[in-house]
Amino acid sequence: MKLRFNVLLRLILIFNLLFLAACKPNNEQHIYKIGFSQTGFADDWRKAMNQSMQIQAAFNPNTDLKILNGEDNVEKQIKDIEQLIKEKVDVLIVSPVKSKPITPIVEKAYKAGISVLIVDRKIEGNNYTAYIGADNYQVGADAANYLASVANTKSNILEIKGLSGSSPALERSLGFNNVINKSENLNVVTSLNSNWESYSIKDSLRYFLKINNDINYIFAHNDRLALGAWEVVKEVGLQQDLKIIGVDGLPGPNGGIQLVQENILMATMLYPTGGDETMKLVSMILNNQKVPKNNVLKTIVIDSRNAEIMKNQYDKIAQHQLDIENQQKRISKQERIYSTQKNVLRIVLILLFTSILLGAYSIYSGYKIKKSKRELEIQNNKITVQRNQIKKIAEEVKISNEAKVNFFTGLSHEFKTPLTLILSSIESLSESKTIKDSKMLSEVGLIFNNSKRLLRLINQLLDFRKIEDRKFILKASETNLFEFSKMVFKDFEKEAQKRDIKFSLACNNEALKVFLDRNLMDKVYFNLLSNAFKFTPNNGTVKINIEDDAESNFVKIHFKDSGIGIPENELKNVFKPFYQGSNNNQPSSGIGLHISKEFIELHKGTIEVFSKHGTEFIISLYKGKAHLNPEEIIFEPDVIDDSIIKFENDYEDDTFNQQNTESPDEHYSILIVEDNPDLLKYLKGKLNSEYKVYTSEGSDAIEKALEIVPDILICDVNLPDKNGFEICKLLKQDLRTSHIPTIILTALNDKDSYIKGLQSGADLFLTKPFSFGILFQSIKTLLFNREKLRYYYVNNMHKIESDQNFGLFEQNFITSINKLIENNLDNSKFSVEQLAEGLNISRVQLYRKLKAILGVNISDYILNIRLERAKVLLETSPLTVSEIAYATGFSTPNYFSTTFKNKYNVSPKTHRTEFLK
Ligand code: FRU
Repeated sequence: MKLRFNVLLRLILIFNLLFLAACKPNNEQHIYKIGFSQTGFADDWRKAMNQSMQIQAAFNPNTDLKILNGEDNVEKQIKDIEQLIKEKVDVLIVSPVKSKPITPIVEKAYKAGISVLIVDRKIEGNNYTAYIGADNYQVGADAANYLASVANTKSNILEIKGLSGSSPALERSLGFNNVINKSENLNVVTSLNSNWESYSIKDSLRYFLKINNDINYIFAHNDRLALGAWEVVKEVGLQQDLKIIGVDGLPGPNGGIQLVQENILMATMLYPTGGDETMKLVSMILNNQKVPKNNVLKTIVIDSRNAEIMKNQYDKIAQHQLDIENQQKRISKQERIYSTQKNVLRIVLILLFTSILLGAYSIYSGYKIKKSKRELEIQNNKITVQRNQIKKIAEEVKISNEAKVNFFTGLSHEFKTPLTLILSSIESLSESKTIKDSKMLSEVGLIFNNSKRLLRLINQLLDFRKIEDRKFILKASETNLFEFSKMVFKDFEKEAQKRDIKFSLACNNEALKVFLDRNLMDKVYFNLLSNAFKFTPNNGTVKINIEDDAESNFVKIHFKDSGIGIPENELKNVFKPFYQGSNNNQPSSGIGLHISKEFIELHKGTIEVFSKHGTEFIISLYKGKAHLNPEEIIFEPDVIDDSIIKFENDYEDDTFNQQNTESPDEHYSILIVEDNPDLLKYLKGKLNSEYKVYTSEGSDAIEKALEIVPDILICDVNLPDKNGFEICKLLKQDLRTSHIPTIILTALNDKDSYIKGLQSGADLFLTKPFSFGILFQSIKTLLFNREKLRYYYVNNMHKIESDQNFGLFEQNFITSINKLIENNLDNSKFSVEQLAEGLNISRVQLYRKLKAILGVNISDYILNIRLERAKVLLETSPLTVSEIAYATGFSTPNYFSTTFKNKYNVSPKTHRTEFLK
């Protein structure tokens, strides 16, 4: 589109240029240069000549007339002509100051191909195009003839000649004298020379006239000389006797015509300037017309008889001239207006054309846009349809994939429970030490090891899925790195011994503690060591070396083996999922190292691999906990690795070794909610000896919990009716059961499930497969903690405050009980039933709840409050013992005294006396 627009712009430009070119006026094709070398500009005759030429030139717009002032100087005129030649004038007009000296330069111009017009005065030779001027010989002759006609007697004549060397001076004198010489009456007494101007002759004339007073006529070669002569004549007082004739006959002030009219001159010979005629000849030359060589202008005699007519004629001509000039000015003005309008019209036309083109273009573009929009819409629709199809297919694929993955995950989870059972059963066998036969023992060991292996593989697969779903949340706890490493190290010691592999663990700082997710890091260790043992031949070496660089913020754990190594070019791939090394012929899932790397990165650490004489993996872990988010750090020591099942259950944790305050004869009750009958049976069997075990396969879990109010609840997640989280939540929100410690037991060990478990209020979250030992210890710990809490309750029965660390339900429960008892303190008939009713629970539930929280029975609790109150009254009130007995709800003073004495080992009376002493 942009390209097309450029083309359009170019088109508009070209058209406009063409249009402007077409509009260019035709007559502007060529301007002819006309150069006029004028004798001088000083006198009126020359001025009149120049003016008439300029007027004529103005009529012809394609001529450019340039007039140069020769200042009546030969040298100046030669220079002027040179200049005009250089300027390559089309026509050169010359009025030569003198004939001879100007001839060569004129010839030069002529020979250079310039058309040359000689006006007024002549040059020598014929090297010019044409001559125009009046016949000066005739002028002289006419003057003489005129004198002859007027002179009746013998008369003396004085001749004042023009510039010697100029052709008019020569010819006028010649014509004059030739005629005079033939006359009998006339005689030219003398001739004076001039430069055409009167000042040049005044002195000599004055001198001459003072000596010769017999002069009758003066013939001056022009009117200016004639006027000057008259002034001298008048000066010397001869104006009555002496008549003067001049030449030129110019109109206007001091012109010959006026001088004749004023009787200053007797006559003047008309000598036309020929300006108009000269320009006509120029026109002819420029139009390539043939021009006559010699063009003679007419002359006449002007005297008192025709001066008036001549003046009128000239005035009329002048008036015409003025009219013409005015007309011309008007025409010029009109032309300017026309030219402006023409330009405006051109611009309007250009704009019109441009807008038509642009309009056309915009219509075209609009059409094009519409078309491409339609195409785009069609394409868009196609894409939308395709996209929807792809989306649908993707959704189908996703659903089917999800289904497959869910199936696979579910299946993997399903594997976990039977595996737990297998492993736990073997654990029991091992603990019971019933197998004495070594062969049998090794077979059981084989079953155990392979079950463990199977479990590990399942866990790896599930971990991989969890990594893919980004569902891992780091649960790092402060861990002694050496001890932790030693724990895993022990797992491989037996294999090392069996295969004579030198297996070592070294550490330069055995006290170093780092924040580890023990569960994840255990898997990393296990993976790296499994690989090392897998690829290291018998008698080889496998080393774990922990290097704590005190200077740096990192600790490095080296796992080095002397195995087959990894080809150099494959090193970069080892952490990619499903990668199988080219020299690895052993069966492998190909995800172990990938998972390990992900786990290390969850710790913000790095893992590198090197292979030279075996393989070395180096894990770098941050020291301290600045690199971890607060939610990634756990402090509960009971969140421990539950996926590693050890043949010998030697896991020890301080938390589990607390002294159990439970009296041996008292049995705690446990409710196990589990839909897997085998696991249920297994757990029941294992826990039966220590606890009173109740079971539920799920659907009646809530009812059973409410009925039994057990001391511990163990609950699976995936259950037929409500899931474990829901059950836990409901029970935790019920006053009757909210105090029951709950262990969630599940195969789901992802982040979401963990969070859900916490939200449901569960006290512990154990993932399957679990170690029975850990479960057992966890139960003990929870009961112990509950006992501690109970102890606290009992000892703070009356000062339970809202900010203390009790469950809200329990706190409210105790507060409500206390309030009801307080309100009925003086009511000896106030019963447990009434209290239960007031609390909206059954008598049994009240009994169990209070027993569970405080470990006391409710009647004792009420009695205790009554006694406590009575004791305070004894110490602070003036009431008698009997009055206090009734005020605190004892039916008789005797019963009060007995029970008081039972509790405080002193009678009420004695207590008061001793207290007030
Ligand atoms: C003007 C003039 C005229 C005269 C003519 C002769 O310069 O002196 O008065 O007639 O020249 O060339």
